Amino acid sequence: MASLETMFNVRGKSVIVTGGASGIGRAYAEIMAEQGARVCIFDIDPTGLDRTVAEIGGDCWGQIVDVGDRPGMAAAFDAVVARHGRIDTVFANAGIDPGPGFMTPEGERNPAGAIEAIPDEQWDRGIEINLTSVYTTVKHAVRHMKPQGSGEIIVTSSIASLINESIVGTSYMPAKAAVNHFVRHMAMELGAYGIRVNAILPGPFITNIAGGRLRNKADRAAFEAQSLIGRIGDVEDIKGLALLLASPAGAYFTGSLIVIDGGSLTRMT
Ligand SMILES: NC(=O)c1ccc[n+]([C@@H]2O[C@H](COP(=O)([O-])OP(=O)(O)OC[C@H]3O[C@@H](n4cnc5c(N)ncnc54)[C@H](O)[C@@H]3O)[C@@H](O)[C@H]2O)c1
Repeated sequence: MASLETMFNVRGKSVIVTGGASGIGRAYAEIMAEQGARVCIFDIDPTGLDRTVAEIGGDCWGQIVDVGDRPGMAAAFDAVVARHGRIDTVFANAGIDPGPGFMTPEGERNPAGAIEAIPDEQWDRGIEINLTSVYTTVKHAVRHMKPQGSGEIIVTSSIASLINESIVGTSYMPAKAAVNHFVRHMAMELGAYGIRVNAILPGPFITNIAGGRLRNKADRAAFEAQSLIGRIGDVEDIKGLALLLASPAGAYFTGSLIVIDGGSLTRMT
């Protein structure tokens, strides 16, 4: 029987985390680096990236890249291969809150989030970062993983892909729903090449998304009320699942959409 150490071994793996300078992505980077992987973080925020890389230490480094910049992403993947020699695990995680929802957490209509008020550029950026960047990330990961005949791709979706959250910017829901479908489609295409593709669907986690609004009392209370265990997620909660999907213990997962939400979805559906 395999030991725990063998089952969850990611030592020496070449790992990329997009949006790894904060929140859920940082937790992915931390657990992978802590377990001996070589981790490269792609992030648009130079200050956060420097701080995160310094705090994680070990074999962790970063590249400043906007996941919406296609040539920049191609070059960033190539730079990882130049340094690590290969790419084993990619967390396609970067995401944004694309503006206000049509309701406030207090249950009022929010005119700034009404469909007719959404600036087109805001919609486009939401789709670009929350959906199209996942395509770009998977594409460049596969360019390197296919010749190796192995790899794991883990995409951060959201429970907002399965329900409609009126206090979240409108383009977020269709973007994340499309991400789920894309993940399953990629799992179908890539399984024959030894590449597994899965999605993690978090419920509310305290991070810096939307200006860190889950730290505000009203927002926090609205989301806490949804949980079956009375609290919203801490990024530490996501580490075990990330390690599972990136290690031999997760070898039979592909095309899976894995909800991690303290039961919020169960309460709401
Ligand atoms: N926090 C939640 O409640 C929650 C719930 C469900 C899903 N998610 C998803 O989790 C993922 C991570 O979000 P988070 O909550 O940790 O947010 P966060 O804001 O704390 O971290 C996101 C990171 O992505 C980076 N980033 C943003 N735009 C980028 C770009 N264009 N290029 C490169 N990097 C970019 C940011 O600089 C930041 O470091 C997102 O995909 C988000 O949709 C979050």
